[in-house]
Amino acid sequence: MIGVFDSGIGGLSILRELARLLPQISTLYLADQAHLPYGERLAEEVQALTLRCASWLVARGCDPIVIACNTASAAALDLLRQRFPHIRFVGVEPAVKPAARQTRSGVIGVLATRATLQSRRYADLLDRWVTSARIVEHACPSWVEAVEAMADQSVLEALVAPCVHSLLDQGADALVLGCTHFPFLSPWIARAIAAWREAHPDAPEITVIDPAPAVAQQTVRQIGEGFAQPESVVVRRFVTTGDPMHFSAVASYWLGWNVDAEHAQC
Ligand code: DGL
Repeated sequence: MIGVFDSGIGGLSILRELARLLPQISTLYLADQAHLPYGERLAEEVQALTLRCASWLVARGCDPIVIACNTASAAALDLLRQRFPHIRFVGVEPAVKPAARQTRSGVIGVLATRATLQSRRYADLLDRWVTSARIVEHACPSWVEAVEAMADQSVLEALVAPCVHSLLDQGADALVLGCTHFPFLSPWIARAIAAWREAHPDAPEITVIDPAPAVAQQTVRQIGEGFAQPESVVVRRFVTTGDPMHFSAVASYWLGWNVDAEHAQC
């Protein structure tokens, strides 16, 4: 069974891809909504919370485990690999490497949580892959809350457009979605880009990079051929440390699936 972990429902953007690529493999999704948002916490806190949740998934036989949260991956991925050397962990990180390849303007916009943008892992990522491009960033804590709250269309539009426009105004032509909650906002991001391009008809094409397909592919590689034997009954289990009714409503809304979550204390 594949374990998938996020602070909230953001990791469902990765689960959705996993279910598409590996429809025959069961998944156990754990959301630590009792402690959301991770993005506004200290790295030590995120590390401790992630370790607890990963232990819970390990105890239920999950392997591999996808840390479907940029913030938790940045803070805790190395520690998890040390603590559980027999488990295969797949993390997610802001996709600056493909962005550096794709940008024509030489400016990359990164949308991520404050904790991710301040992490050592992110700094190392930039050092390694972004040699000539310029990085402009936006931490958007209210985006995470809005996705978790199923905010109205008009609220989402008012939240998303100013952040996107500020990155585009600074010359970014590649936008990296560095938080797994943000792919759910893709329609509003696309609308904000379209409005900006109307006012800037000579501007280059804008690329938006969602890491979910690459993370799902990486999980498939981790699993390898042998493990991917079709299961006779495929289970999609959802567990939250918060309110399961709320999780079910929000997850069903964004995924378009019928989700029935359980509560657990990790
Ligand atoms: N979904 C998480 C990420 O990818 C962050 C959400 C939060 O702040 O808890 O970074």
